[in-house]
Amino acid sequence: MSRHLSRPSRPLGQSVHEPVLLQESLEVLAPQRGGFFIDATVGGGGHSVALLAASEDLQLLAVDRDADALDRARERLAPFGERVRFAHAPFSSIESLLPDGWAGKVNGILADFGVSSDQLEDRDRGFSFLHDGPLDMRMDATKQKTSAAVLLASASEDEISTWLHEFGEERFSRKIAHEIVHARRFGPLLRTSQLADLVARVSPRGRQGIHPATRTFQALRIVVNRELDEIDALLHAAPALLGDGGVFAAISFHSLEDRMVKNAFRNEVRSETFEDIARKGIVAGAGEQRRNPRSRSARLRAIQKEGGAC
Ligand SMILES: C[S@@+](CC[C@H](N)C(=O)[O-])C[C@H]1O[C@@H](n2cnc3c(N)ncnc32)[C@H](O)[C@@H]1O
Repeated sequence: MSRHLSRPSRPLGQSVHEPVLLQESLEVLAPQRGGFFIDATVGGGGHSVALLAASEDLQLLAVDRDADALDRARERLAPFGERVRFAHAPFSSIESLLPDGWAGKVNGILADFGVSSDQLEDRDRGFSFLHDGPLDMRMDATKQKTSAAVLLASASEDEISTWLHEFGEERFSRKIAHEIVHARRFGPLLRTSQLADLVARVSPRGRQGIHPATRTFQALRIVVNRELDEIDALLHAAPALLGDGGVFAAISFHSLEDRMVKNAFRNEVRSETFEDIARKGIVAGAGEQRRNPRSRSARLRAIQKEGGAC
């Protein structure tokens, strides 16, 4: 089913996404300094609003590869007028998105990885095992050709098993892959509910209150969107864009992302040009974890380029 033929389930302007680690992000990014900031994952615009509100001298480049997210952000950030520029692009291309005069002078970059609640709640996007919808999972259906359904229709059992094991850290990867290949002999897997039911049959009991399909959906989303390649490219490109005293902050949601951020930041710190300003990473406090369950797996890491008066 093409999502362009179906109506969105609610008006795009209203984001239901609650930003995680908001105060903690502001503390490390120090937007009250003003200057050039990049929100590499603007999503519902929660972090961006707070950055822009912190200083009238702050200009923001708001990036997202999801056109719906960017439309919502455009509406929400409209009150900040020409202080905000928007880029519909993957953050792997961050270097080429920089406005004139920003290179080597950026004061802060924020990347808040993964999917937003807006994407999860929109059943037509196919990100969630909780809602029936097309098995899509593309963050940018205007440029990405291969949906999760297309991937599952053509991949070998070994490939599927490897994805689930490596990107979902799924214990039952072999059993689930076997069942997927068996099931598709009788017809294609086109709906999220088909896949969620299939996974639940193979690994019936949710572990620690986690839905049995959680890891399978995470793995497929990572493959469909080449998420780890995207993060790798951003982690390599972003530090060079910063000016003296500039901060690069990243929020990750699972161990694969966090390991990449931790290693990349450690290398930058070893080069002695950067300082780690969030040792061991910052996690959400008990209050935020109660209020916003998404924050329970979030970890914020941040490095700051030497120099500058911050
Ligand atoms: C967790 S949400 C960000 C939420 C945002 N910080 C807020 O406060 O509303 C992640 C966003 O990043 C976007 N995204 C994920 N991978 C991306 C990539 N490689 N390039 C650009 N945007 C990406 C998603 O489309 C999603 O809108």
